[in-house]
Amino acid sequence: MATFNIFVLPGDGIGPEVTAEGVRVLEAIGQRFEHVFKFEQDLVGGASIDAHGVAILPEVLEKAKASDAVLFGAVGGPKWDNPNADVRPEQGLLALRSGLQLWANLRPVVAIPALINASTLKPEVIEGVDLVVIRELTSGLYFGKPQERRVVNGRREAVDTNYYNEDEISRVAHLGFRMARERRKKLTSLDKANVMASSRLWREVVTEVSKEYPDVTLEHVLADAMTMYLIRRPRDFDVIIADNMFGDIITDEASMLTGSMGMLPSASIGTLREDGTGLGMYEPIHGSAPDIAGKGLANPLAMILTTAMLLRHSCGLEEEARAVEQAVTDVIEAGDRTADLAAPGAPHLSTREMAERVLARLGA
Ligand code: IPM
Ligand code: MG
Repeated sequence: MATFNIFVLPGDGIGPEVTAEGVRVLEAIGQRFEHVFKFEQDLVGGASIDAHGVAILPEVLEKAKASDAVLFGAVGGPKWDNPNADVRPEQGLLALRSGLQLWANLRPVVAIPALINASTLKPEVIEGVDLVVIRELTSGLYFGKPQERRVVNGRREAVDTNYYNEDEISRVAHLGFRMARERRKKLTSLDKANVMASSRLWREVVTEVSKEYPDVTLEHVLADAMTMYLIRRPRDFDVIIADNMFGDIITDEASMLTGSMGMLPSASIGTLREDGTGLGMYEPIHGSAPDIAGKGLANPLAMILTTAMLLRHSCGLEEEARAVEQAVTDVIEAGDRTADLAAPGAPHLSTREMAERVLARLGA
């Protein structure tokens, strides 16, 4: 019987209520497939700022590092919203990404037939969309130095640095090609090689790595043009790789394609062991949604699909991951809806009730 240590960081807003359902799903999987999941929980984001004055304590970061996987809710809310504050909830997230060396962020976007009308795009554009964005997560504009404000000759100025070295690029490229190989064998790499030196290096390294994957078709697309292609012909894309900043932007756009952000999981992973698994951090895309927090309105399915990614990438439990994904597909096809998915005025399930439907499908 395998044992997995899961470090739970519920965070703020709807984070705690959806994370609780994720934990229940993992417990159900443990029972059904005879694994032991041990949970430890701590504070991150605004909750940690209120308790300790920082977005994450060093010892909490250490516990995250020592775990097998981190299950993360969401951080932020109006209470801590001042972007000029020295202490901000997002710092917890960035500290985890960099401290755990989670250099790849995976955000799959799959159109679910039963929800096809939830999109603002026409059904015929959305039908069959099945893509994954891999965003570089620990370098580029987010972490390059200098990153500072200063006063020069009495005038305020600020600088961010889009630093990349070839190793940081090639590991993302390899991951992208390996994933594409298991899928539809197409890799789209985003950059602004027409303008930026860092992008020209990105394109050069990705092209070099492509020689090792002759079976995968590579295309380079300028990041600005990609924002158009993504809404015009999203079905054309399979695996997309992007640097930290372009990846941030394109994943927000991608998350809107299907119109059901409450259904989208994400995984942040680093260098994997021989067996293909490794420490990762798993979080739903939707964020803390403070306006609906504590009301039982949140859709737990993104978090539940997030646990499937945790099972797959950190525990190597593919069959278990698929069981969770199937259970979610089944409840959606059966017509179960939380408020975000229900037609206006139509009855809907609470966070807890929706999770119960999934648990029932899992035999819990
Ligand atoms: C994301 C978010 C974060 C980012 C914020 C909250 C710091 O937008 O995970 O995409 O910019 O990376
Ligand atoms: Mg973002």
